[in-house]
Amino acid sequence: MSAMPASPHVPVLLAEVIEALALQPGDLIVDATFGAGGYTRAFLDAGATVHAFDRDPDAIAAGRAWPETRETPPRLVLHPRRFSEMVAALAEAGISRVDGVAMDIGVSSMQLDQARRGFAFSTDGPLDMTMSQAGPTAADFVNEAAEAEIADVLFRYGEERQSRRVARAIVAARPLSTTGELAQVVRKALGYRPGAPKDPATRSFQAIRIHVNGELDELEQALMGAEQVLKSGGRLAVVSFHSLEDRIVKRFLREAAGAVARANRYLPEAASGSQPTFAELSKAIRPSEAETLRNPRARSATLRAAVRTAAPVREAA
Ligand SMILES: C[S@@+](CC[C@H](N)C(=O)[O-])C[C@H]1O[C@@H](n2cnc3c(N)ncnc32)[C@H](O)[C@@H]1O
Repeated sequence: MSAMPASPHVPVLLAEVIEALALQPGDLIVDATFGAGGYTRAFLDAGATVHAFDRDPDAIAAGRAWPETRETPPRLVLHPRRFSEMVAALAEAGISRVDGVAMDIGVSSMQLDQARRGFAFSTDGPLDMTMSQAGPTAADFVNEAAEAEIADVLFRYGEERQSRRVARAIVAARPLSTTGELAQVVRKALGYRPGAPKDPATRSFQAIRIHVNGELDELEQALMGAEQVLKSGGRLAVVSFHSLEDRIVKRFLREAAGAVARANRYLPEAASGSQPTFAELSKAIRPSEAETLRNPRARSATLRAAVRTAAPVREAA
C-alpha cells in the first residue's frame, strides 16, 4: 500500500473568490469548506473574522493550531460539522447574519493523495471514501447494495453509460476491500486499454464518493443555508468541480433570482412566486490558463457568485 504523503492543497480560483466576496476588514465570513485553510488564510489576512466548517476531523485538527483561534475574541472559529448544518451551528455560536459565504466543494488534495482515505484509484488503499472518517464506507456500499442500486448510483453520479455492466461486475467480484481491486473490476468491465487518455474508473469512483458522502444533498442544503444566513448585500461564492454540482448551483441561483421556476425539492411550489433572494448573478468563472498550468487540479473548477437581496428567505418545505 502506498504511503504517499499528502501534497498541500493549492486553493483554486482564490483571487476570483476574494473579488466575488468584496471583502472588507471586519467582515464575518463563513468558509464552508476549510480544507487546508487556503481560503480562510486569505480571508483572515484581509481582516475578516471566519467561521470555518469541515466534516473531516483531520482538516479541523490542523486548523486548531492556527493562532487566530486563540485571539480574544477568536478571529477563526472552527466547526467540525457538515456544511448543511451551517445555520444551526452559527445559531449556536450566537450568529444569525454573515457578510459572505464561500464554498469550495469536493475533496482536498490531502484527502485524494492519502491512500488510507480510499478516494484514489491511482494508489491502493482501503475502500473508504468517507470525508468525515465515519459512517458507511465505499466498501459497505459496493459489498452490500443491490446491483440495481449500484447501477443507479454509477449512472446518476458518474454519468457512466455502461453502469449496468459495471454494477454486474462489481457484484460478481464481491467482497471488494481496496481501491485497487475496485479500479481493476471497473477497468476490466469496460475493456480498459492501458495508455487510454482517461481511466474509465474515474467515473465510478466519482459516483461512489458522491453517494457515500451524500454530496449533492449537502450542496443543496448548504445553498439554502447560505440564503438564510447572508445579510442583505452579503455575497455567496461557490466553486464546484463537475457538471452535476455546477448544475445545482446554477439552477439554485437562477431560481433564487426569479429567472426560472423552482426545481429544488427543499422548497415548496409556492416559493417560485416569491421575491428574488439573490441578484447580480455572475457568469460561470473559470480558472485562467496560468492557474491550470500551475495547478492542474483547478482545470475543472467553476465559480459562481451572487449578492443576497433584502427579500425574506424562501421557506423550506
Ligand atoms: C476542495 S477542499 C477545500 C479547500 C480549501 N478551500 C483550501 O483552500 O484549502 C474541500 C473540503 O471541504 C470538505 N467538505 C466537503 N463536503 C463537506 C460537507 N458537506 N461539510 C463539511 N465539509 C465538507 C472536505 O472535507 C474538504 O476538506
